[in-house]
Amino acid sequence: MKVYVSGDSAAKAVGADDVASALATEAAARGLEIELIRPGSRGMVWLEPLVEIDRGAGREAFGPVTPADAPALLDGSAQSLGPVEAIPFFARQTRLTFARCGVIDPLDLGDYEAHGGLAGLRRAIAMTGQEVVDEVRTSGLRGRGGAGFPTGIKWQTVHDAPGAQKYIVCNADEGDSGTFADRMIMEGDPFTLIEGMVIAGLATGAKRGYVYLRSEYPDAIAVMRRAVEIARAGGVLGPRVLGSDRGFEMEIRVGAGAYVCGEETSLLNSLEGKRGVVRAKPPLPALEGFLGRPTVVNNVISLATVPVILAKGAAFYADFGLGRSRGTIPVQIAGNVARGGLFETAFGMPLGGLVDEIAGGTRSGRPVKAVQVGGPLGAYFAPHQFDTPFGYEEFDGAGGLIGHAGIVVFDDSADMLGMARFAMEFCAVESCGKCTPCRIGAVRGVETIDRIARGDAGAAELLTDLCETMKDGSLCALGGFTPYPVMSALTLFPEDFSRAREAAE
Ligand code: NAI
Ligand code: SF4
Repeated sequence: MKVYVSGDSAAKAVGADDVASALATEAAARGLEIELIRPGSRGMVWLEPLVEIDRGAGREAFGPVTPADAPALLDGSAQSLGPVEAIPFFARQTRLTFARCGVIDPLDLGDYEAHGGLAGLRRAIAMTGQEVVDEVRTSGLRGRGGAGFPTGIKWQTVHDAPGAQKYIVCNADEGDSGTFADRMIMEGDPFTLIEGMVIAGLATGAKRGYVYLRSEYPDAIAVMRRAVEIARAGGVLGPRVLGSDRGFEMEIRVGAGAYVCGEETSLLNSLEGKRGVVRAKPPLPALEGFLGRPTVVNNVISLATVPVILAKGAAFYADFGLGRSRGTIPVQIAGNVARGGLFETAFGMPLGGLVDEIAGGTRSGRPVKAVQVGGPLGAYFAPHQFDTPFGYEEFDGAGGLIGHAGIVVFDDSADMLGMARFAMEFCAVESCGKCTPCRIGAVRGVETIDRIARGDAGAAELLTDLCETMKDGSLCALGGFTPYPVMSALTLFPEDFSRAREAAE
């Protein structure tokens, strides 16, 4: 009998390790032989700790499970959820990037290969760099870190850049609130990221890669470090990738906990051992990046999606999606929701479908008031905007951004003036200090919102003016995008800002 207990850190946070040891102890006491496997998460966080049991007729799911459930799980009397694939939250997904996550043993390279792993890399080895770049460009893949820049064009720039020394840098400094897709794939399917980085190296001529991983992810760091060792021993990394005459090496570097180090130039400074301060662009990292050399800086999900594109072909991937947003996007649903988790879907699903149908509305049972999409720098959406389809241009047109595709839901008890203040305060705390609109603007922004809260009628106009200045004058997205949550809160929920003024009058 095979027993799968999620080893993802979200599952561990709610007791998965205790469940695993209770199952092992109970099985030993009964003299029952079980194979205990710790895969990543299936992404249904509200069902964690999730246990799957295979008695020879396929995997059956149980969750949330406690250690006290161990006897019933082993004797078959526990209430089953059926196969994971039949649970509606899972059944409605299109799992391309996350196809193996929660299915395989994350550190078993043989299991990875048995589930389609390395097929993309094998194909890439037989192609020229330019052919691989063309394949990625044709797939329509865009940067999943947030900016949505076409990955193939970025790779082309590095491919065409002169010089023998080039680098692949993976941005795993996942700092957006409500996001966990990078962590989940690194913990649950680390070889797919490694494979994606090797393919990026073959495509652009880079021979070395770095994963810049945030220190707040100790489990992901441990899994990735071990996976790199296993990949090296298995010939996926090294001077002769899978026995070919092409080489690629990589290592894991740990960040020190600054949000701004998720900005690519700040990340590169940190990776070089310098203070994490933003560099002015140009020059683009694609031309002068790590140690001044041409560098691909891609988010975890962008790179982890490359293997499936190479394995199944650009046309297969490009077939999914909406408009210029091709393929799938792992939407991370968090906040006040009945069903939180990761939902990978083709672009195009309306925001309201994700909130009401997939997430099941609020956990509190109260009406949804606002949804923040795209992290702490993303705009708020109100229910009247719920028909906005999930797509880069569509969200831009609605005054927001997809960002790293995290959505955080709030019910009608949320105080949007407080949320706007939080955004400005966050910017003030996390600012790298390089440019004035952000460094000073965010501090003045907090003060101005406090003036509104005290009933100062003229302060809202001042806040709007300040937001315009931050948007136009900031050097990077931290200062430039903080106006999104602030202005959307002010515009969509004016009553939360006028209440104090009315009380003062
Ligand atoms: P950007 O628009 O400046 O650049 C996008 C990417 O394209 C960069 O890598 C840039 O170097 C590259 N690029 C642009 N033109 C190029 C060319 N001609 N050739 C090659 N490469 C080129 O955006 P930025 O500042 O990198 O990212 C902002 C985004 O980051 C926001 O949309 C925000 O949602 C997201 N973000 C994500 C976070 C996370 O935790 N994942 C945290 C904070 C922000
Ligand atoms: Fe630094 Fe803020 Fe300017 Fe970005 S916008 S460079 S974080 S001061």
